[in-house]
Amino acid sequence: MKLSRNDACWCGSGRKYKKCHLEMDLRLEELEKKGYIIPPRSIIKTEEQIAGIRRACQLSREILDGLEDVIAPGLTTEAINTWVHEYTMAHGAYPAPLHYNGYPKSVCTSINEVICHGIPEQRVLVDGDILNVDVTCILDGYYGDTSRMYLIGEPSAQARELVQVARECMYLGIEQVRPFNRVGDIGYTIEQHVRKYGYSVVQDFGGHGVGVEFHEEPFVQHYGEKDSGMILIPNMVFTIEPMINTGTYKCRVLDDNWTAVTADGSLSAQWEHTVRVTEGGVEILSE
Ligand code: MF3
Ligand code: CO
Ligand code: CO
Repeated sequence: MKLSRNDACWCGSGRKYKKCHLEMDLRLEELEKKGYIIPPRSIIKTEEQIAGIRRACQLSREILDGLEDVIAPGLTTEAINTWVHEYTMAHGAYPAPLHYNGYPKSVCTSINEVICHGIPEQRVLVDGDILNVDVTCILDGYYGDTSRMYLIGEPSAQARELVQVARECMYLGIEQVRPFNRVGDIGYTIEQHVRKYGYSVVQDFGGHGVGVEFHEEPFVQHYGEKDSGMILIPNMVFTIEPMINTGTYKCRVLDDNWTAVTADGSLSAQWEHTVRVTEGGVEILSE
């Protein structure tokens, strides 16, 4: 059904179509005819959804902040899981990882050569470890997904550089987010930065649309070609979560069917934010 100029806009703003998305839709229609991938309407969030996703993201961020004072040598990843689970529940939210596709815990804890989806267990943190903690809260039905790295004691100079470069990659990717840029611009920018250090970008996992479900369209590659992939338009919400390795980009998944490690045992680091495309650029919802 094609909307008339005076109909209510499809986006839920309550405004007339002609005062809302009409112009954007005409522009996207032209681009689609030329072969561009345009976002489906179903992934464009309403103001109400964005407010809810922002609150979920802020709770996830609060958990990562709280962990700064909790994480120390001698702690187990199981203890991190307990802390995250209890904090989440105490704030009226639910940990999205728990039972997601059979995942057994409430958070992902990925140490050293673990790329992502590390399962909390009795492993004790020791001086020199680098650790990613990846938190996703479901609050009032909305998802907020963010992760960061924690240095345990004093990791090697290379480990610290890797952590820093991965963080820069996330922010350089975020800087590419603005209307009518494309998803590929994010991955291209990240891969170019990583090349300067001789590190590699994981290809088997990526960022993703998020907010109403845990994983939505688009898939966000952290490598690849500029001017490729889906067009970005306001109120798309997705994660940018580059995983950077000192050695090969290749992954292996352990027998637990979750833990992804570097194929050569080299170190891996990851940072993640949930972002929203705004009229003027980007809002980092989880910062
Ligand atoms: N939070 C992860 C992401 O950034 C997904 C974890 S899925 C789980 O996409 F099941 F392992 F928790
Ligand atoms: Co994510
Ligand atoms: Co995550």
